[in-house]
Amino acid sequence: MAWDPKLYSSFAAPRLRPALDLLARVGAEKPARVVDLGCGTGNVTRLLGERWPGAHVVGVDSSAEMLQAAAQESAAITWTQADIGTWMPADKVDVLFSNAALHWLGDHAGLFPRLAAMVAPGGWLAVQMPHNHYAASHALMAEAAAAGPWADKLVPLAGRFPVGDPGFYYDLLAPLTRDVDIWETEYLHVLDGDDPVVRWTMGTALRPLLDAVDGAWRQGFLEEYRARVAAAYPRRADGKTLFPFRRLFLVAQM
Ligand SMILES: C[S@@+](CC[C@H](N)C(=O)[O-])C[C@H]1O[C@@H](n2cnc3c(N)ncnc32)[C@H](O)[C@@H]1O
Repeated sequence: MAWDPKLYSSFAAPRLRPALDLLARVGAEKPARVVDLGCGTGNVTRLLGERWPGAHVVGVDSSAEMLQAAAQESAAITWTQADIGTWMPADKVDVLFSNAALHWLGDHAGLFPRLAAMVAPGGWLAVQMPHNHYAASHALMAEAAAAGPWADKLVPLAGRFPVGDPGFYYDLLAPLTRDVDIWETEYLHVLDGDDPVVRWTMGTALRPLLDAVDGAWRQGFLEEYRARVAAAYPRRADGKTLFPFRRLFLVAQM
């Protein structure tokens, strides 16, 4: 799937806040090796470098477009193009951090133990993922996908539920870690402008569907989605749109 760094960054502040909330819970003091999995445009990776200036920091992402933007953030960070599903560090790492990326991968029952095994004793695994796939913003993608001649193409791409419940991650990680802290936060994003929820999802979850169709089908699907989202997330009296967004956090120490 193609990523658009500019579109993704258009909601930079609300997207950054969960990354900061996650980072605040990581107790590492002087880690030598820090990795940011799915580093995207690298703004969070740069903050990892600022928090631990003595560490060798690596940003891993599969998107050439995102890594190109990331390279502007810092020359001191090693930017690596790789798929998280197969990437392995040369040595165990002290902080394995991932903000808003692992929900793009399947088989979390296999993935999380594999990631935990990459972390050195005493090191930290810190992950944040959207846990919002039940929300109207996502459910309406499936409805709009089924609402036109594009259905055969788009229905199979809609309705993914990649992220499990907190207990699922607890059961996976508790036997492998010294301590695991799991919590959820529902942010209430206050968004400006026209169709802000559609613009938000166009930068992320809607992309695989938009990439799968073009021309009139793309336009028709987008219109079906836009109309449904406008009804589900009405503008407030002050012109703003409220977008509740639930996220799952987990911080484990080995
Ligand atoms: C929503 S962005 C988050 C970027 C960054 N972590 C942040 O907090 O701003 C998700 C990133 O994960 C990357 N990604 C998704 N699946 C991936 C995979 N299998 N391997 C490597 N990177 C992946 C995408 O390319 C994208 O840059």
